[in-house]
Amino acid sequence: MHKARLTIDLDAIDANARELKERASGAELMAVVKANAYGHGAVPVARSAIGAGATYLGLAQLTEAIEVATNLGVDKQQVRIMAWLYGPDADFASAIERGIELGVSSLAALKAIAAGARTAALTAQVHLKLDTGLGRAGAAKAQWEDLVRDALALQAEGAINLRGAWSHFAYADDPGNPTVAAQIEAFEDGLRLARRLGARFELCHLANSAALVTGLPVTYDLVRPGLALYGLSPIPQVASPVELGLRPALTFEAYLSLVKPVPAGQGLSYGHAYVTERDTITGLVPVGYADGIFRAATNVGPVRVGGRNRRIAGRVCMDQFVLDLGPGALEREGDRVILFGPGDQGEPTVQDWADAVGTISYEITTRLPASLERVYVRAGRPDAGMGTAQDTAA
Ligand SMILES: Cc1ncc(COP(=O)(O)O)c(C=O)c1O
Repeated sequence: MHKARLTIDLDAIDANARELKERASGAELMAVVKANAYGHGAVPVARSAIGAGATYLGLAQLTEAIEVATNLGVDKQQVRIMAWLYGPDADFASAIERGIELGVSSLAALKAIAAGARTAALTAQVHLKLDTGLGRAGAAKAQWEDLVRDALALQAEGAINLRGAWSHFAYADDPGNPTVAAQIEAFEDGLRLARRLGARFELCHLANSAALVTGLPVTYDLVRPGLALYGLSPIPQVASPVELGLRPALTFEAYLSLVKPVPAGQGLSYGHAYVTERDTITGLVPVGYADGIFRAATNVGPVRVGGRNRRIAGRVCMDQFVLDLGPGALEREGDRVILFGPGDQGEPTVQDWADAVGTISYEITTRLPASLERVYVRAGRPDAGMGTAQDTAA
């Protein structure tokens, strides 16, 4: 181990993908692998999810989708890739040549994509997005009819194919929230209007992880879970991963790089935010906020070392933090420190970290930089098919 290691349990990814497919009522499964597969490493996770039944990969940034499409090494017939965020000067022709399908929220984007399709002499596969109430991406209700009409004209010309219609929830983690029913109704209205105009979408899609695990009746033709694929709960106040039939895939471990005696009354780390109450022994862990450890974990970040759970003592620095191991501690330099894992050995979980620093599990894992060593395992052993950490941690 260089300074720290992320271990990704591909059996967990597979099992989660199968569990989500079960909940999808026959719909296709899109593995959302944006943001480097929520920090888990996009290409290995994507390959694993495809092996477990995913037929689509979902990415936000087109640049990231192109990178994944280039490095995936999976037959194009086996999986489709969709991206939904790009700038006005994006290279749509290259994306279309690679078979990447595009989410479209505006007329301007539709026109730019059609131009890219003409350059590539191919038909672009587009998914028209309706803003049903999230108030983020998607065409506004007032723009939807024009967007559909223009898309139909471009489809008649052969520049695009209306592959999908889709939207995204604001409150899927709170199924009783009135916005949920309102968004479903707005989506249905949008689909009805588009059909009246002559649109025949091959795939309608709306469900993310929370919609799937709470059983909202919105699986349509395709579901788009991200978080749950990684074995994390999108409704942590209501149900843990185990209760949802999911298994967290990620373990983050480091080691003690220095162990030393420290007297009572000694402040630890910058600003002395922690002061030892008695003569004690401290341990230094060589990871910090440059490695995705929240600075807000100062004095609260949970870790497991020497079979006991402890909290970070003092400020998290750029590349290290300190633990107060207690008087007479038996830990040695080189001993393993687990920041988080599935939790079944008593170690803290991603959710424990999210709770400790006041954020959501999504932010804990997506902050982990691509530069960290990642090891992919099956049945507890490194997975030979996944290459080295360097070429898979894209
Ligand atoms: C458009 C879209 N669909 C699906 C997802 C997956 O969401 P989740 O990770 O909550 O399942 C996301 C992630 O934020 C998203 O932006």
